[in-house]
Amino acid sequence: MKLRKDFLWGGATAANQFEGGYLEGGRGLSINDVHKGGNVSTPRVIHETIHEGDYYPSHEGVDFYHRYKEDIALLAEMGFKCFRMSIAWSRIFPNGDNPEPNEEGLQFYDNVFDELLKYGIEPVVTLSHYETPLALVKNYGSWRNRKMIQFFQNYCRVVFERYKGKVKYWMTFNEINCILGNENPYLQAGINFKEGENRIDVKLQASHYMMVASALAVADCHRIDPEAKIGCMLLYPTTYPATCAPIDQVMTRDAMAMTYYFGDVFVRGRYTNTCTAYQEKTGGHFTMEPGDEKILKEGTVDYIAFSYYSSKIEGARVTEFTGGNMMRGGKNPYLETSDWGWQTDPIGLRMALNQLYDRYQIPLFIAENGLGAVDQVEADGSIIDDYRIDYLARHIQAFKDAVEKDHVDLMGYTPWGPIDIVSAGTGEMKKRYGFIYVDKDDEGNGTLNRSRKKSFYWYKKVIASNGDDL
Ligand code: BG6
Repeated sequence: MKLRKDFLWGGATAANQFEGGYLEGGRGLSINDVHKGGNVSTPRVIHETIHEGDYYPSHEGVDFYHRYKEDIALLAEMGFKCFRMSIAWSRIFPNGDNPEPNEEGLQFYDNVFDELLKYGIEPVVTLSHYETPLALVKNYGSWRNRKMIQFFQNYCRVVFERYKGKVKYWMTFNEINCILGNENPYLQAGINFKEGENRIDVKLQASHYMMVASALAVADCHRIDPEAKIGCMLLYPTTYPATCAPIDQVMTRDAMAMTYYFGDVFVRGRYTNTCTAYQEKTGGHFTMEPGDEKILKEGTVDYIAFSYYSSKIEGARVTEFTGGNMMRGGKNPYLETSDWGWQTDPIGLRMALNQLYDRYQIPLFIAENGLGAVDQVEADGSIIDDYRIDYLARHIQAFKDAVEKDHVDLMGYTPWGPIDIVSAGTGEMKKRYGFIYVDKDDEGNGTLNRSRKKSFYWYKKVIASNGDDL
């Protein structure tokens, strides 16, 4: 089997890391607008309000808000077939619970989608990528509260109606499984734990509300635009047993349960034995309302999108751990490590594709992948990012193996940050993923000018050959 002829080659971004224009066009604040930058050893700090004089990377991002035409022209030059981006929920509903949507915000995305479509680039849109309206956190406690389901549904219905016919591919919540994998699920669920909260109960309850909200979005999307496809979005942490000790196999299985917890509900439309076992093991409790089971059953996804950057190991004797932004794990002695401690493992991507396809048998979409690295601008302005080309070429070969040798059904590939954007994990600019360099540093200085890296020309040729010329 070969890659599909209409394989969706592209790149992926999120509004809060890319767009900027944080107060323009009637936009309200989102959770990332009070999130300070950090670095590999200093975690990002969350404020409750904006502190005068402090620098918050999301406020300007890399200014896609004003430069979308120039940026999209560059993506078109590379031959992009699709572009994954998110809608900033607080651009459409500034407080999350407004009775009417913000027309200026809606118009902005009309302009962006029209510009993409002008070049034949399909928008692939994430409904919620780490940018819950901040007012919903303050006024309702975010996804601790069942009312969020209604607010999210209103928002989704508005954008499905508005962009019907323009957007064919949707994703609901970015890396939703990190709610369970992450100590503090601020980015995924707008929850910054308070002293004394029962963390596992809160996480399971928020997960339930979000899965119900996601299922309602799927059903609404299908009703409003039967041509559209809508998927879930998981972080896939391929996990190997550290040794052949039987206990390491059990630990590996248990570690994967927090990902399948979501995958099972999204694809099978119900809490499976894996989910029940996970709930029991953690001792967590949550409530369901009558009707929720039916909603989950009727809102199953068309495809599974997932991010894959690196793998990890599990085992009783693991003592060394890897870096990562949302989920960490045991360090694998056979793999190289990036400057941010992430381990490079292309075979782990092939495994991810096989494991997901074996379990669910629905189309897959690699929504994120890439290497965060420091780029050096040469005296003549060029950027020779061979390390990025090497990383991406090996991962593309791995997914081609999964398609061609293992017969996995794969829809597309959107590596992370085709234009350099703010890092989600650290808030830095110097951790770059792009084919296109953006002149901006971690303190917010720079012209914001764009320039083509060596990988720009390489990826263009990869797309033109449908992955044959690596
Ligand atoms: C994923 C997120 O976890 O990884 C993105 O969906 C994020 O928002 C990406 O940017 C890369 O991580 P980081 O921390 O290097 O930006």
